[in-house]
Amino acid sequence: MAQPDDGGRDRGGRRSACDGDAASRGLPPLAGIATMEEAMRPGLAVEECVRRLKRYHYALRRLHQVFTARIPAEPQLELKTAFSLHAHLCAEHAAAVAARVGEMREPPLGLEAVPDPLLEVFFDEILGAPSTEELVAGLYGRAVPALRAALERHLCQTNPLADHPTVRLCRFALLEIADMERFGSRALAALVGPEARDGMVAWTALLDRCLAGAGALDGADPPAAAPEERIHSARPYVFDGRPRRDARFPDPYNMGVNAEAFLYDERYAALPKTLMMYYKRLREIDVPEVMAAIIAETPAEDWGYYRDMSRQLWDEARHALMGQAGFAALGIDWPNLVRVNHTWSLGLNTQLSALDRHAVLYFIEQGLMTRTGKRFEWEVAAASGDALARLFQDYDWADEVLHARIGRDRYVARAGGLREAVDRGDRCWSRVLMDWERWRQAGLTRHENWWPNLYRAACARWGIAPDPDVEAFDTSYEGRRADLKTVSG
Ligand SMILES: [Fe+2]
Ligand SMILES: [Fe+2]
Ligand SMILES: [Fe+2]
Repeated sequence: MAQPDDGGRDRGGRRSACDGDAASRGLPPLAGIATMEEAMRPGLAVEECVRRLKRYHYALRRLHQVFTARIPAEPQLELKTAFSLHAHLCAEHAAAVAARVGEMREPPLGLEAVPDPLLEVFFDEILGAPSTEELVAGLYGRAVPALRAALERHLCQTNPLADHPTVRLCRFALLEIADMERFGSRALAALVGPEARDGMVAWTALLDRCLAGAGALDGADPPAAAPEERIHSARPYVFDGRPRRDARFPDPYNMGVNAEAFLYDERYAALPKTLMMYYKRLREIDVPEVMAAIIAETPAEDWGYYRDMSRQLWDEARHALMGQAGFAALGIDWPNLVRVNHTWSLGLNTQLSALDRHAVLYFIEQGLMTRTGKRFEWEVAAASGDALARLFQDYDWADEVLHARIGRDRYVARAGGLREAVDRGDRCWSRVLMDWERWRQAGLTRHENWWPNLYRAACARWGIAPDPDVEAFDTSYEGRRADLKTVSG
């Protein structure tokens, strides 16, 4: 079928023999969406279209589940953040597909049903993949390409005129699913060498049998005989919320530099504060870890909940990446100079229930809307002369306003009203044990003050002499939590 090419033109300008009069003045027929020949071919009936859409919807929901569930325990930053993005994209497209089903004489019912038991096995197996390599192979080597192929087949087989709303939906989805697949091919090439591939051949063959037995993801092929068998999902999946990090996070218990104490101290100039803000942005990688744990352990909400939460989750990952980009722009070797910890996500994910985690997140995000919050950070960045810090704080602020709204919509009602929502957040945050001294005694960290080295390196890049007062900053998180209230636990 015809699709506008990159220049926005349409190659479907040909007319059929019966349409060849001069009245159309050479203009493309059918509003430019297809040729007459293409529109003249019957395609998928409404019933078949809906049947397939329900399978795409199932696949997108299951992909969303796998991407989200594997965020905390995946150490590799590139994968942790890509899973965050890909979960968000799947949540968006699942919502769009569900809306389309609701337009097609179907009450939006039956969207919860498993459309094929072998597809269920297929996604259960990927969810339970015991290693990063198998996870990447299952997601990007099998599931995403199967979904892409199904949407492409839909475009080929449906009538582009009669089913145009679905055509449009598939085209938009394909844009982003192709992005996911491109990232995935590079991840596969980087992580899954020939030896790893050989080691998982029995398992990937099982995935292929599941798809063949289901008649492909869309169920449009004749199904091959496939007995139901399981390998990685023989036992039910258990969510792992313990955050893990890669080699760029060598001191994850380090709470030796209290970023907020520096940031809100008026004695210090704006420029060195941008370093603290890049650090704070990078440290936000703990928020996707917590949000993934909230989502993974909050089943059976309406899809709007997962969609909002996943959007916020991706924003938080994006903020962390802005911190990474900020340090890169300064030529700062952050893995060597900055100690980004995982203590917040570790505490919340191992000590609190899903709702109590959300309570803490909400409590902290409401605090960001006050005077010492996001506006303040943007003002500091604007005063610093660092244009990139100013830009990043601008968007960070805008996003955090959205998150405060998502918190109101998605947490406050569940907490039983505004007052209780705030109190619960404060209570739960105070309950989380951040054992500064025990971590030190156990040899998990020395709470090294990494600030002076970072500051000196940045001064060298800026071509200025270090300010001795700034260089001497030495306030840790011992006894103080990040919102400057005394730790009670
Ligand atoms: Fe955030
Ligand atoms: Fe942020
Ligand atoms: Fe946020």
